[in-house]
Amino acid sequence: MLVEASAPGKCILFGEHAVVFGQPAVAVAIEQRISVSIRPSVDEHWRLEGHRLDAKKHPHLNTLRHRLWPTKAGAPPLSIHIHGDIPRASGLGSSAALSVAACAALRVARGRWMTESRDGEQSWAEGYASTIDDTDAYSTFDEEQAGLRPSTYDNRTHQIHGAEALDVDECAVLGHAVEAAAQGGRASPMDASTCSHGGIVMLSDVVEHGAEHLYQRQLEMSDGRRTWQLHDLGMPVGGEDLFLVIGNTGVHAPTAAQVAKVAEAIQLEPERMKEIETIGTIARRGIAALKRGDYEAVGRAMTENQIMLRGLGVSCPELDALVRAAAPSSLGAKLTGAGGGGCMVALTRDPKTTSEAIELAGGRALVSQFGNDGVRVETMVSIPIWSPDS
Ligand code: PMV
Repeated sequence: MLVEASAPGKCILFGEHAVVFGQPAVAVAIEQRISVSIRPSVDEHWRLEGHRLDAKKHPHLNTLRHRLWPTKAGAPPLSIHIHGDIPRASGLGSSAALSVAACAALRVARGRWMTESRDGEQSWAEGYASTIDDTDAYSTFDEEQAGLRPSTYDNRTHQIHGAEALDVDECAVLGHAVEAAAQGGRASPMDASTCSHGGIVMLSDVVEHGAEHLYQRQLEMSDGRRTWQLHDLGMPVGGEDLFLVIGNTGVHAPTAAQVAKVAEAIQLEPERMKEIETIGTIARRGIAALKRGDYEAVGRAMTENQIMLRGLGVSCPELDALVRAAAPSSLGAKLTGAGGGGCMVALTRDPKTTSEAIELAGGRALVSQFGNDGVRVETMVSIPIWSPDS
């Protein structure tokens, strides 16, 4: 009995920091992925890489098992293995990719009960989705239930198995919920949605025109409720010869401190909100260019975005050095994510030259194309691993 699922990392093409103030931001799924495999544990303990699962060290996995794996209802403890090539804690969405892949593996391992109405319409008897009001992925609740919805569960008619049971929206909503739980109640849904859906995802606080609206996400935070609208930007036209080269500075800078720095700068000088609005304007221009396949204009928007981010004080000498090194061989380059360290990204038709330049300037380069899959099932052997009352 074994299930393995994987999810991609992400980088932000436009709009980081300004998105915190409601401007649009665009994230792209990258080629680098994380895989999570699960099988029944050899004893009565949850295990990670053979060791006892430490809930404090692995809050994402721990929250997820409470959401999806009703141990008290008889689901056996599991043994988890993780592997992948997304560097950790560098703004590339490794924790969201882990959460989304683990969510997929757990769902596939248990299948999904369905109900059928009198007119033959099928719906879920268990699970989490943007369209279902009577489950809450975000708050803790009775572990015994873990994803069962008694109202519909009592009317279950048949079970679906394997990849058919997997749902991208469910992985995105649970991925966001466990990120929020692990980050003290604060997390934007950008990472979880991009790692789950793949491709290119746009996030804004309003429904934007010219992109497919996926769903709305809401999260209750200590200072009020935040609402985000997520959109699918589709595949960019004619982007086959284009590459993203990500340069990792290796410098660690926590996102929360970077976000606080921007908030403070604006509190001190409220007129600097103009800079946030300018980033929003640049992002919208970049999005329009992406949609018509004008990559020279996409690159220009990235470079302009970087100038604004530097002005806001969220770049750093190491990021500036990598951006400068990448510039001659690329269409545009900027920091990606929270800044202050972490990674930059360059859009290029010559990934070899751009990667070499980044490495020479002291960075670690990763190359990715556009158009990467979101969450997917890699392996299934003897499923379901466990099924309630089956
Ligand atoms: O460093 P990352 O990839 O988690 O990105 C942070 C993006 C910010 O806009 C700076 C913060 C946010 O919550 O959107």
